[in-house]
Amino acid sequence: MARRKLIYEGKAKILYEGPEPGTYVQYFKDDATAGNGAKKDVIEGKGVLNNRMSEFFMVGLGNIGIPTHFIRRINMREQLIRQVEIIPLEVIVRNFAAGSMAKRLGMEEGAALPRPIVEFSYKDDKLGDPLVPEEYIIAFGWASQQDMDDIVSMALRVNDFLSGTMYGVGIKLIDFKIEIGRIWDNEFPRLVVADEISPDCCRLWDVETGQKLDKDVFRQDLGNLADAYTEVARRLGVLPSNVTHRPKPTLIN
Ligand SMILES: Nc1ncnc2c1ncn2[C@@H]1O[C@H](COP(=O)(O)OP(=O)(O)OP(=O)(O)O)[C@@H](O)[C@H]1O
Ligand SMILES: [Mg+2]
Repeated sequence: MARRKLIYEGKAKILYEGPEPGTYVQYFKDDATAGNGAKKDVIEGKGVLNNRMSEFFMVGLGNIGIPTHFIRRINMREQLIRQVEIIPLEVIVRNFAAGSMAKRLGMEEGAALPRPIVEFSYKDDKLGDPLVPEEYIIAFGWASQQDMDDIVSMALRVNDFLSGTMYGVGIKLIDFKIEIGRIWDNEFPRLVVADEISPDCCRLWDVETGQKLDKDVFRQDLGNLADAYTEVARRLGVLPSNVTHRPKPTLIN
């Protein structure tokens, strides 16, 4: 196969030029980073698990009418996606206090919030992805007021879908981050969920035990990250072995 053109290599994924114009191939790496790259490791199998889980969530969102960049999974580590103009924001939805919010406000990790809270960070590694008010986003032209209204309602729908799906497998969705992209359909801009949805960008706690099953396991040295992600994938029924070694159908008489 001819060598593909590299578009971008990030901390967790690589984008290559896709087979058709307007598409990319998204390759999921095994690299794990935290604290904006300060802590790094290679977690064998993470890329395979995240590729499957991101596929699972993007397909699910598509099925309930939330557009995403996902086209199809190509293999264990790659999926075909639509090329989008990424809005340079991390869109964060929080159901329970944790991470930077708990720290900033002196709240206990896991404290329930009065309602889901949507917040935005400006995507800039050099600045450490600082939290920005909507006012800045509109004033600097990163997105319009209409975009922001659409992004908030989309983020809340994604939250309902993810919370419900996770709760169904005994997992509490504490918070998550998504990225939104713009695509052009015959001159009309449309917003879609892009990047990835995986335990790399969510906080997931077991409903019964409170055990963490997300990237905090790596950030806080709480154990084996691949085991935690495997557990999430197993509960969702998307463990690669389930899929690749599915028994052949047998005739029942
Ligand atoms: N459909 C898409 N079209 C174009 N770019 C995309 C799409 N989906 C995701 N991206 C971008 O691809 C990159 C994915 O790589 P990765 O997540 O490893 O980057 P990163 O190191 O986290 O850096 P960044 O701070 O840019 O996210 C991100 O920059 C993301 O914004
Ligand atoms: Mg990223």
